[in-house]
Order: sequence, then structure tokens, then C-alpha cells
Amino acid sequence: MKILIGSDHGGFCLKEDLKSFLLELGHEVKDFGVFSSDQSDYPEVAFHVAESLIRGEGDRAVLICGTGIGMAISANKVKGIRAALCHDVFSARAAMEHNRANVLTMGERVIGAGLAREILKTWLEAEFQAGRHLRRVSKIEEYENRE
Ligand code: RB5
Repeated sequence: MKILIGSDHGGFCLKEDLKSFLLELGHEVKDFGVFSSDQSDYPEVAFHVAESLIRGEGDRAVLICGTGIGMAISANKVKGIRAALCHDVFSARAAMEHNRANVLTMGERVIGAGLAREILKTWLEAEFQAGRHLRRVSKIEEYENRE
């Protein structure tokens, strides 16, 4: 898959680790920065990555900040984005199987790189289960597309 990835300064180190991990897994990665631990503003990166994903420039996106919260809130403002903040493997699997989350967010200040890698791999390997979940996700899309 082609994975878009981005972080603010609070998620820079974990973003770098996950980028290496994605490449090891054989994915293509497009890195939207940031490229240092200098102060930055997470909404800028989140909007940039989310809009690129919606334009079809990648298959999935990963956004990292200190907590993962700011990235999730920001990315979810972009129409068509279903960003899920996951700090455990169970939620990561459900985020794809039930919610068809197209963006995964995590917090570098919350979990270590080992768990973050497991969460990312689980989410990437999970498949949307459709059925009743499709009805629910469709309701989100209908709400987004209302006049
Ligand atoms: C930056 O200090 C921090 O607020 C940011 O990385 C993130 O945790 C916000 O949600």
C-alpha cells in the first residue's frame, strides 16, 4: 500500500520509527513531515495529509502527535476522513473492521514504539467487515454529504 505519514514535533521520533517499519513491511511511504523536533502546529500537517488522502494520493494515512488527539480532531474535519485514535491492538483492529478508519492516529507521549508498530500492523492487515457496519459508516457519509 501507499501510506501517507505525518507528525508534529511531539510525534516526530515515533513517526520516523513507523516510517522505517512501514518500509520494512514493503509499503510505499510518503512523508509529509515534520522533519525535526522544532515546534510545529499539528493541524497544518493533519490537513495536508488528510486532503492528500482524499485526493487519492495514498491508500491510508498515519498521523502522530504527542497524544494523537489533536491529529484525530483535525483530520476528522476533512470530508471523507475517518481518523481513529488507537493505543491498543483491539481498537486498531475494530477501527478498520467496524469503522473503516482511513487514518490512524497515535501519541508518542502515550505509548512506546513497540506497541505502536503492533497497532499499525494490525490496522493495516485488518479488513472492513461491511454488513451492519457498512450501514453505520454510510450514515456518517450521508451526514457529511447533507446540504
Ligand atoms: C504539542 O505539545 C502537543 O500538544 C501535540 O503534539 C498533541 O499532543 C496535541 O494533541
